[in-house]
Amino acid sequence: MSLTPHGGVLINRVNEEYDLSTAAKEIELDAISFADLELIAIGGYSPIEGFLTKSDYEAVVSNMRLASGVVWSLPITLPVTKEKAAEINQGDIVRLSYNGTVYGVIEVEDQYTPDKEKEAVNVYKTDDHNHPGVKKLFERGDTYIGGKITLTKRSEKPFPQFTYEPEETRKHFKENGWKTIVGFQTRNPVHRAHEYIQKTALETVDGLFLNPLVGETKSDDIPADVRMKSYQVLLNGYYPKDRVFLGVFPAAMRYAGPKEAIFHALVRKNYGCTHFIVGRDHAGVGDYYGTYEAQELFEQFTSEEIGITPLKFEHSFYCNTCEAMATPKTCPHDKSEHVILSGTKVRTMLRNGELPPSTFSRKEVIETLIEGLKTTVS
Ligand code: ADX
Repeated sequence: MSLTPHGGVLINRVNEEYDLSTAAKEIELDAISFADLELIAIGGYSPIEGFLTKSDYEAVVSNMRLASGVVWSLPITLPVTKEKAAEINQGDIVRLSYNGTVYGVIEVEDQYTPDKEKEAVNVYKTDDHNHPGVKKLFERGDTYIGGKITLTKRSEKPFPQFTYEPEETRKHFKENGWKTIVGFQTRNPVHRAHEYIQKTALETVDGLFLNPLVGETKSDDIPADVRMKSYQVLLNGYYPKDRVFLGVFPAAMRYAGPKEAIFHALVRKNYGCTHFIVGRDHAGVGDYYGTYEAQELFEQFTSEEIGITPLKFEHSFYCNTCEAMATPKTCPHDKSEHVILSGTKVRTMLRNGELPPSTFSRKEVIETLIEGLKTTVS
């Protein structure tokens, strides 16, 4: 497996010398499109060079491909209100700002009204507004602006020492002599089950890229700053330093389950990974997706089309009888022997200062989380 970016070329649309004087109009981004702007510009979303135009959008929503035929599973869009859209014309160069600061421009190719019902059902497999991704989709503007972007200013990073652009992660992997690298997406603390599947993968590849998502998540997820502390404590105590690289993934979480799993894999390929872990209910929420639906979706594509190898893991847990971590593939014992706690249950325990068992999560991780959550308004 080569480290070729998705679509063949690592996109770079950063130009900090850009002359903004030709761009009179302005769009204020939300946190999602602000993160997307930067990720497009640094090549995280290669081969995408801007917010999707109508033809790309429709192809992605209907067929999980860009209009060119390249696989792409999540629509990366720039929604604006109808009033804002009325000010903007095809051919305009429009400033893109966040919290009042201009970070980039878009060269407007088109604007269109999406069929949000269709987008919800095709991307999220539901139009239920209780789904956090669907809720967000309907809250955002009703007109999408399409066109190539340029990042004219890099943002202040919440975790600067753990922020790397795809070019930098690729360089790091190369300098370390890693030929095979497994990417790990997470929006949670790394519990024993995560550790088990990461280390099982690490038995067969050269390096692990621990790449926690730190963009917008739903309000009951554990905040990124608390998680970041817990990852460092865990890595320091239990992982070989020369085989693991911790770097953040600044995108927002969509909770789109299977389709987000494909997206997560393609982006990690752009960061230089050859393999990507897909466990149980990847990027899922509630009961919207089947436990292994994300893994199954990869089978719709050839390995050349995806270009990164999914490493699929079954639901893992600590088994009291095995006295070890296991999955249904390796453990013959009854479910009652398995230590399984839902994310919601664990978050409630942590917020109440209760300790989940060390067979679920390492003591140091739990302590860090409890301490961190004390100072976080939940
Ligand atoms: S996600 O929304 O980022 O996917 P989470 O951080 O819980 O959520 O999961 C990170 C990765 O670990 C995903 O690939 C997920 O499928 C996998 N995973 C989480 N818990 C388990 C588990 N107990 N067994 C197997 N895989 C798991």
